[in-house]
Amino acid sequence: MKKMIVGNLKMNMENVSQRDAYCKEMCEVFSGIHTTHTLILCPPVIYTEYFCRAFHNTSFAIGTQDCFWEMYGSYTGNTSPKAIHSLGGTHVILGHSERRTHNHESNEDIVRKTKTAIRSELVPIVCVGFLSHDDEMHSVHEQVGALLAGLSREEMEKVVIAYEPVWAIGSGKTPTSDEIHTMVMYIRSMIVQEHGKDISAGIPILYGGSVTAENIDETCMQSYADGVLVGTTSLSPEKFAAMVRGIS
Ligand code: PGA
Repeated sequence: MKKMIVGNLKMNMENVSQRDAYCKEMCEVFSGIHTTHTLILCPPVIYTEYFCRAFHNTSFAIGTQDCFWEMYGSYTGNTSPKAIHSLGGTHVILGHSERRTHNHESNEDIVRKTKTAIRSELVPIVCVGFLSHDDEMHSVHEQVGALLAGLSREEMEKVVIAYEPVWAIGSGKTPTSDEIHTMVMYIRSMIVQEHGKDISAGIPILYGGSVTAENIDETCMQSYADGVLVGTTSLSPEKFAAMVRGIS
């Protein structure tokens, strides 16, 4: 079964030497790996152009970690999704809990960004998740509900959803495969209700939060998620490769 594996490199490269060494090692490690899975790396936007060149003609697609809800205009400090696309970027992570927390992004902001990303021909990977076990369903219901209310059917068909329980991010803790499966099915049922089974079946729903080579079978295969969004493990090309091999 083909899975989507997205590396979220966050703000973990401080300088161009680290960037260059990472790209070189990743290309070397993966030159010997033939995989049918979809591999996507999302570096900080400032490195996207370099990554697009470094991974040209490899099995990796390149994205980035956020973009603005306008393509053009007087918006100092923001990044146009159209510009990301023109560099060769294909995907953008939106609504990550770290942006919801540190940048106070609302569901409304995320819907606007998602629409503009789609118009700019980027695939939005929209993160939804909850802050604690207690408000799990409530937060996910609101976040997915906002997407369903704000996007047309045609837009919705172009979205990837990443379910990320906030407590699992960077903590080394993961939900069980059954818990992930329940949430993936819950999100899918919301989409079915709005747009029917066929549209829902075409929308990948990923799991994210402390995914490693050791737990990829449980978090991705046994949970029936369509793939994974990976932070810490994507920082090590060797560990990332071991994880990909784990589902090959
Ligand atoms: P993690 O991060 O794999 O380090 O838990 C995942 C994410 O934040 O997307």
